[in-house]
Amino acid sequence: MPLNPPAVAAKDLPGGQKKALQVASEALVQVSGLEKTYQTARGPLTLFRDLDLQIQTGEMVAIVGQSGAGKSTLLHILGALDTPTAGGVYCASTHVAQLSQKQAAAFRNREIGYVWQFHYLLPEFSARENVAMPLLARGVRKAEALAVATDWLREVGLEDRGEHRPGELSGGEQQRVALARALVNRPRLLLADEPTGDLDESTAGRIFELIERLHQSHGLTSVLVTHNMELAARCTRVLRLEGGRLVAQAVSAN
Ligand SMILES: Nc1ncnc2c1ncn2[C@@H]1O[C@H](COP(=O)(O)OP(=O)(O)O)[C@@H](O)[C@H]1O
Ligand SMILES: [Mg+2]
Repeated sequence: MPLNPPAVAAKDLPGGQKKALQVASEALVQVSGLEKTYQTARGPLTLFRDLDLQIQTGEMVAIVGQSGAGKSTLLHILGALDTPTAGGVYCASTHVAQLSQKQAAAFRNREIGYVWQFHYLLPEFSARENVAMPLLARGVRKAEALAVATDWLREVGLEDRGEHRPGELSGGEQQRVALARALVNRPRLLLADEPTGDLDESTAGRIFELIERLHQSHGLTSVLVTHNMELAARCTRVLRLEGGRLVAQAVSAN
């Protein structure tokens, strides 16, 4: 159940508007008029001005752009880790800007899978325990959480690494564990911030293939920030964050 359903339900609308709302509701992400301004020691820093973004369910969208353009900030806002200064952010059936801290944490746990360039696995826990963490956080019993985590480790090709600690895994394996942890609660939206940025080329390619496979087989909607245009070109759409707005980026087929 969404924490914050849309103010108007489709059934309350006159016939003519109903269709438009149903079409719009296929968008898992709807951002309109987004503004983000940080107050810094050097004065206000405005990253987004009137930024719009719509992502349909099932899309795999790449976001590219120069360092400092605000790509990470945009993902943080979509995932309720940061709040907009102005504008509407409707994501996975939730008005994310209106959530309390507690609601935001529940929203992230349920709806958002997050992977970063660095894996952020907990070093003193095994791979299996790391994957089980989001389940434990929502109150699943330990034995059951570990069993589900084992299934996810198998899914990312690491069934024989469950007892390894993150420090005993390669960079690519750590990112596989991070992906399993991101998806263990079956979120609808996967947000990946330069997930292959720290990996050598062939490992990056294999991690990207895994993301593509998980995206397909779990019916995810995914937003990936990357500097790798070759990988970006494999997504449904490529958007460039430039001058505080998102613009379509043409990519060549090869
Ligand atoms: N909490 C913050 N306070 C002030 N400035 C910030 C904060 N977070 C990010 N910034 C600034 O916003 C800009 C965009 O950051 P970021 O979203 O990380 O860009 P990107 O991911 O595209 O490299 C940078 O100039 C960064 O220094
Ligand atoms: Mg960034």
